[in-house]
Amino acid sequence: MLNLWSDKVVSRLEHDWNSKNQPGVEETFSMTARLGNSFLDVGCGYGRFYAFLLEKGDKFSYIGYDSSEAMIDKAEAMYNNSDCFILHDVTKPFIHSMDVVLCNELFIHLLPEVQEKVLGNINSTKSKAIVISIQIKDDKDIIEEHPLEGESFINVIQNESTFIKTIADSIQGIRSISIHRYKLNRKVYKTVFIIGRHREI
Ligand SMILES: C[S@@+](CC[C@H](N)C(=O)[O-])C[C@H]1O[C@@H](n2cnc3c(N)ncnc32)[C@H](O)[C@@H]1O
Repeated sequence: MLNLWSDKVVSRLEHDWNSKNQPGVEETFSMTARLGNSFLDVGCGYGRFYAFLLEKGDKFSYIGYDSSEAMIDKAEAMYNNSDCFILHDVTKPFIHSMDVVLCNELFIHLLPEVQEKVLGNINSTKSKAIVISIQIKDDKDIIEEHPLEGESFINVIQNESTFIKTIADSIQGIRSISIHRYKLNRKVYKTVFIIGRHREI
């Protein structure tokens, strides 16, 4: 199922993202920024990570992919930049290769079989580091479907150990994996995986 969130959903999410202090987002962006200076932001939304990099002020290269035209339009308008935000379904092979691949809060909206496809595409890039966040709850697999602004919307809460195995099966040349957890509410955690790869990949 392809994610084609419309303007209505984008506005709703923007409101939610701006009004809540979202645990782990700032930390994830900051850890990602330290891993290199060229970034492929997979499921970039309206470019929150791009805004973070701009504010940081260092020199960087950036490409963001998103399947929602409304998200891409919004990103282009916000940053007055139509070169680095690209309408692209990330289940299809990637067109760009950067040092660092970031998937922040993308996998929560992808079914496990779709996640595997995206991991396969990430594996095909020459990236030296990969950052992926998922959500976990009591090590249970939960797929919730609930419409948002009348549109289809899924949340995937998954088992951390199973996901580590999927990473190991999908990504070649893994040198290191570090795991960071942030409490979102009483039972749900955002887990962030920082994956380092060997230089010769
Ligand atoms: C929760 S948002 C996170 C946005 C951004 N990473 C951030 O941290 O602000 C998830 C994004 O993934 C995008 N997405 C979902 N499925 C996708 C797919 N198959 N291809 C490209 N983008 C996708 C959605 O359109 C949405 O913008």
